[in-house]
Amino acid sequence: MSKKIASARISQKSSRLLQELNNSLPFDKILYREDIEGSIAHSYMLSQQGIISSDDYTKIESGLLEILGEIESGEFLLDGDDEDIHMAIEGRLTDKIGDAGKRLHTARSRNDQVALDFRLFVQKNTKTIAELILQNIETLMERAKESVGVMLPGMTHLQHAQPINFGYHLMAYASMLKRDYERFVSSYDRNDYSPIGCAALAGTPHPISRVITSDKLGFKSPTLNCLDTVSDRDFALEMLFNISTMMMHISRLSEELILWSSSEFGWVTLSDRHATGSSIMPQKKNPDIPELLRGKTGRVNGNLIALLTVMKGLPLAYNKDMQEDKEGVFDSVKTATLSLQILDEMISDMTINDEKMQRACMIGHLSATDLADYLVREAGMPFRDAYHITGNVVNLAEQNSVDISELSLAELQSIDERIGDGVIELLDNRASMNARDSEGGTATKRTIEQIEKMQDWMNEVRS
Ligand code: ARG
Repeated sequence: MSKKIASARISQKSSRLLQELNNSLPFDKILYREDIEGSIAHSYMLSQQGIISSDDYTKIESGLLEILGEIESGEFLLDGDDEDIHMAIEGRLTDKIGDAGKRLHTARSRNDQVALDFRLFVQKNTKTIAELILQNIETLMERAKESVGVMLPGMTHLQHAQPINFGYHLMAYASMLKRDYERFVSSYDRNDYSPIGCAALAGTPHPISRVITSDKLGFKSPTLNCLDTVSDRDFALEMLFNISTMMMHISRLSEELILWSSSEFGWVTLSDRHATGSSIMPQKKNPDIPELLRGKTGRVNGNLIALLTVMKGLPLAYNKDMQEDKEGVFDSVKTATLSLQILDEMISDMTINDEKMQRACMIGHLSATDLADYLVREAGMPFRDAYHITGNVVNLAEQNSVDISELSLAELQSIDERIGDGVIELLDNRASMNARDSEGGTATKRTIEQIEKMQDWMNEVRS
């Protein structure tokens, strides 16, 4: 039935292979809610403008709502040979209500219809993902609050560098997720315009009102230019880019969780709910979840590059290539949603092994910079000279197999007599951490300030 809708010019039955290549119903059926919502808004506008009768509108609306119920109950399976979700629903509607159903597509093309459905999907999921990001930020803040006094070696080049606290480290990730959140919100605002009513590419001679449909669907206003609107997939690309960037952050955190939960580190223990075993090695507890989050980042990046590549050479306006826009977005949205949900659980449930982190601070002479800074400050030495003297002190500590913070004053002075007794306290790792009290620094009090500022932001966003 529905096949006939779009085949006035085609005299032969489609080849099976054409259908297999061409039909998007197997994957775009997940847009059924958006398609029905869009068609109700469009037919409402048609009736308001006197283009169809209000009687036809009533039939269309109740027919579409009935179809919605049938899809959700599994009575209408969306597994026929219709080309896409739009054809499947319109066909079903016409089967149900006859001529009124055939009037639904007045002043509309599948080109603006698909642009609308897809945009509604992207906008809805942008909100869902943004909310999940907020939840993750809150969880990171909770864990940060309890660990502002937990010291660990901060690293550069994956080598011990300076002592920081674990709350500070977690707040770094909370800050990344805050930017991710803001990116989703700004994309939402930029794309909050209604595509419907653009028809095939040039608008329509029917006296439509795009404002009515836009208002009914909750958009800010209709888009400006119809040719652009049916050609545009930027909104989908933004979603893919936003997901990729966010997943890149999640992937870096995952990488750290994998390292930290290894026997070499032992800094965190993932809950047994979030670990898996080995089929042959009975002793194993593997961090599959962070590994998969890291791995899935490759997959969402692929989806972004795929759509950028599909779009880059297309002449205006709609080309069937653009049907390739959906699967990657559906996949990335599903991946991002699940990843955020599981990350939140995993961070909430993991055990932070403060003692192991603290012990690791005795490796790598973390407070060496403090000695150099001391010599600059107290002995008026040029930083480069202070740097070399400190290097010699580190060598001595290495020879004695101790950390720089364990050297006695006499030992320190054997390298340079300008090292005074105040230095001993400075070389203590906790003192070293708390000395970094510049704005945004790792000192416990500065970390607490960062959590408070983030909380203020959160309160504002939530209000
Ligand atoms: N299934 C198509 C898509 O996903 C819908 C738009 C088809 N438009 C057309 N003129 N063939 O892009």
